[in-house]
Formats: sequence, C-alpha cells, structure tokens
Amino acid sequence: MLLETLIAVTALGTFVKAARPENVTICDWYTPLIIGEPNSPDSQQKLMQRITHTFILGNYTTPNVGIKVAGVAAPGNFSGHEVNILNYFTGAYYSSNGYNNTSTGIAKNFLDDGGATALLADKPANTKTSNQYALLTHVYQYFGEFYGCSEQGTGDFPKYKGVASMYEVHKFMKSDPYESGYFNEQIVLAAKSLGFEQADCDFTLKALEATFGNRCSPAAPVIPASAGPQLQAICVSENCPLDPNATCSAYPDEGFVPFPEIANATLAGAVVKENDTSAATTASPSGTGSPAASGSASGSSTASGSAATSTGGASTLEVSSALKVIGTLITVVGAGLFIAPL
Ligand code: HEM
Ligand SMILES: *[C@@H]1O[C@H](CO)[C@@H](O)[C@H](O)[C@H]1NC(C)=O
Ligand SMILES: *[C@@H]1O[C@H](CO)[C@@H](O)[C@H](O)[C@H]1NC(C)=O
Ligand SMILES: *[C@@H]1O[C@H](CO)[C@@H](O)[C@H](O)[C@H]1NC(C)=O
Ligand SMILES: *[C@@H]1O[C@H](CO)[C@@H](O)[C@H](O)[C@H]1NC(C)=O
Ligand SMILES: *[C@@H]1O[C@H](CO)[C@@H](O)[C@H](O)[C@H]1NC(C)=O
Ligand SMILES: *[C@@H]1O[C@H](CO)[C@@H](O)[C@H](O)[C@H]1NC(C)=O
Ligand SMILES: *[C@@H]1O[C@H](CO)[C@@H](O)[C@H](O)[C@H]1NC(C)=O
Ligand SMILES: *[C@@H]1O[C@H](CO)[C@@H](O)[C@H](O)[C@H]1NC(C)=O
Repeated sequence: MLLETLIAVTALGTFVKAARPENVTICDWYTPLIIGEPNSPDSQQKLMQRITHTFILGNYTTPNVGIKVAGVAAPGNFSGHEVNILNYFTGAYYSSNGYNNTSTGIAKNFLDDGGATALLADKPANTKTSNQYALLTHVYQYFGEFYGCSEQGTGDFPKYKGVASMYEVHKFMKSDPYESGYFNEQIVLAAKSLGFEQADCDFTLKALEATFGNRCSPAAPVIPASAGPQLQAICVSENCPLDPNATCSAYPDEGFVPFPEIANATLAGAVVKENDTSAATTASPSGTGSPAASGSASGSSTASGSAATSTGGASTLEVSSALKVIGTLITVVGAGLFIAPL
C-alpha cells in the first residue's frame, strides 16, 4: 500500500508537489512543469498552444492528470442548454466581424488550413496565410499575456497582434450565457487537465467571467493594456448577466446586437444557436457572473473572491502605478497581474 501511494505520488509529483509561488506567473510556473523545457519564447508559446488546442479539440496529449475535456469543437450542454460553438468557426452563420461598418456579420471559415489535423500535430495551421493561422496565433498570444508569459514579445512569440476589443471581435456571434459559459468551462478544464492547480483554475474562470461575461460592461483596458479602454463584453445576448457597473450607452444600440442568421444550413447541422429572444425577460439583473455552474470540475464556487487586493508579487512586473492603485480584476488581467490567488 505504501508502495502504491508512492508510485501515485511520484507519477503526479510534478503537479501536486509544490504550489505556485506568488512571485512567479502562471505561464512561467507551468511552462517548465508541463512542457518540460526551461522558460523561453518557444516553450511558453508551446504551453499556450497546448491549452488552446485542448480547449478546442478536447484532451489529446499527455500529461493529463485525469481530467476529460470535451473541447468547444464538440457540441456541449451547459446548464441544460445545448450549444454548438463549432458553427462560429466554419462559416455556418453570418457571425464574424467583417470590420466594414456593417450592422451584421459575415460568414467566414476559420478551419481553412489544416483544421483539426494541424492542431493535433501541434501546429496552428499548415501555412501562415490563412484565417486559421491568424486566429490560432492570436489566441496563443492573448493567453500568453493573460497568463503573464515573461518571455513573450520576441519574434518567436510576439505580444498579442489582434483586435483589442473582445466585443468587436465577437459581437455578431451574440453569445449567450450558455455559449460563453461552455467556452469558459472548456478553457478551465483544459488548464486543469494539463495540471494547473485549483487556485489557478479558479482564477482563470473568475477573470474570464468578470472581464467578458457581463453585457454592457464598461470599456476597460485588457490586452494589450496599451490600447486603452475598449469594449470587452463577449456575452452580449439579452439573457447575459448585466454588468454590476453596466454602461450600455457605451455600446452601439445600447448593447443590442442582431441574432446571427444561418449562412449554410448544411454546415450548421442539427444543433443550431438557441434563439433566446423569448427568454430575454428573465435576464438576470444581478450581474453575479455566469449561470449556475454545470457540474464541471472547475470549482467556480470555491474561489474566495478576494479579488486581487494582494499585489504582493507585482514588483516583478511592469505595471503603471495607476493600474496598481485601481486593482480590479480587469486591471489585473490587463497587467498580467494574475499572480495573486483570487
Ligand atoms: C462563446 C464564446 C466564444 C466564441 C463562440 C468565440 C469564437 C471566436 C471566433 C469565431 C473568433 C474569430 C473571430 C474573427 O476573427 O472574426 C474568435 C476570435 C478570438 N477569440 Fe473568441 N470566442 C469565444 C470566447 C472567447 C473567449 C472567452 C476568449 C478569451 C478571452 C476569446 C478570445 C479570442 C481571441 C483573442 C480572438 C482573436 C481575435 C483577433 O484575431 O483579433 N474568445 N473567437
Ligand atoms: C520568488 O521569491 C522567492 C523567495 O521569496 C525567491 O527565492 C525567488 O527568487 C523569487 N523568484 C522570482 C522569479 O522573483
Ligand atoms: C482524455 O482524458 C481522459 C481522462 O483522463 C482519458 O480517459 C482519455 O483517454 C483522454 N483522451 C485522450 C484522447 O487522450
Ligand atoms: C441537455 O440537458 C438537458 C437538461 O439536463 C436535457 O434535457 C437534454 O436532453 C440534454 N441534451 C443533450 C444533447 O444531452
Ligand atoms: C465586408 O468585408 C468583408 C471582407 O472583410 C467582405 O467579405 C464582405 O462582403 C463585406 N461586406 C460588405 C457588405 O461590404
Ligand atoms: C467605419 O466608420 C467610421 C466612422 O464612421 C470611419 O471612421 C471608418 O473609416 C469606417 N470604416 C470602414 C472600413 O468603412
Ligand atoms: C464599479 O465602478 C466603480 C467606480 O469605477 C468601482 O469602484 C467599482 O469597483 C466597480 N465595481 C465592480 C464590481 O467592478
Ligand atoms: C454549404 O456547406 C456545404 C458543406 O460544406 C457545401 O458543400 C455547400 O457548397 C455549402 N453551400 C453554400 C451555398 O455555400
Ligand atoms: C427569435 O425568436 C423571436 C421570438 O420568438 C422571433 O421574433 C425572432 O424572429 C427569432 N429570430 C430568429 C433569427 O429566429
């Protein structure tokens, strides 16, 4: 029995042994543990790639600490609502921003360069000139800043090069609480499956929910913080929780966005976006975050919510004094200052 315990502990040793020190960022801490290489732009990008591919496709690599991840590419069921995130990536809906001032989206295929096969081979895409390549590399970069990769910013792994407003990027998807909730859940499960500690999973969920999960959230600097305040709400349907500090007037049409029409019914398949317009009157005004947790392993209810009052390790990071003083979650994310357990 002692031997069995020892083997179990040894097998999981790198993951359960030591808690992440407060002065080491999430990215810097887990890169050597999970990728098995010292921190470098390349190894840190590999970790962000592993997290991204896992939350898209489901768990496909070892190490995996025994957490199954379905991935957002698979139809899901969040709080009793069926969701099919894949349809936003295939051109099934007019849900992408064409950035030409139109009031509805365009249909765009993001799996145009290798699809899942490339991702399973640990590549963003087959070439560097595709929707898929741009999307995947931008997501790696975004999470690299979110998790505070200290080596990010050189040629191998540049800082985030995409659009700074997550609202602009996602608005025509009209994400509802179940789509947003499922997406966030899969991100957290991906991190957990690779060996992130519970506190870091909890941080991830709370930061995602608070920053992107409330409609009419005030403009805020997130990533890159240098872009200044930007509209950041990803959950924008009428039944998304209203932000505690809602400023709907900052959003076009007071935050209302049209429901995305189907562009290709064959592609969209059987599970299409729920038309929640009729449920809008039950929208939660409380702004307390996501809908009821869906029984995931992400442990959202265990986080203390002490929200970044401790900036103990902040001295190791470049943060303007203004940002330090404000100390909100959004600020914390924007500054890569997620090191305080939340
Ligand atoms: C309901 C949930 C979500 C859906 C359906 C979704 C879907 C998409 C799609 C289709 C794109 C491509 C957009 C385009 O270039 O036109 C995109 C881009 C992106 N998404 Fe999401 N997403 C969701 C949530 C999130 C979350 C929680 C994050 C993390 C903060 C995130 C971060 C990004 C980033 C960084 C980009 C790249 C933006 C750029 O290249 O300028 N998304 N998302
Ligand atoms: C973190 O703090 C510990 C002890 O407080 C110190 O030994 C270590 O060098 C610090 N690490 C970093 C990256 O600053
Ligand atoms: C995903 O994780 C679960 C739980 O550890 C495991 O049973 C399953 O084999 C994994 N799937 C793959 C493709 O590795
Ligand atoms: C989703 O969950 C609801 C409520 O639990 C259930 O009625 C429904 O059958 C589920 N759908 C799928 C596809 O599992
Ligand atoms: C908007 O721009 C996209 C390309 O970025 C194009 O495919 C689409 O047709 C344009 N829509 C209109 C209405 O001009
Ligand atoms: C969109 O509209 C804004 C303000 O009206 C204008 O500055 C911008 O050039 C327009 N962009 C495009 C692509 O038409
Ligand atoms: C709302 O805004 C006020 C003033 O900017 C700020 O002090 C407060 O922390 C915000 N509340 C939340 C929950 O973000
Ligand atoms: C819809 O998608 C299917 C499957 O990819 C494709 O064969 C078909 O040509 C598409 N239809 C249109 C009108 O684009
Ligand atoms: C969604 O449902 C509402 C209320 O039933 C209806 O008026 C609207 O046309 C529907 N929208 C779509 C795109 O199906």
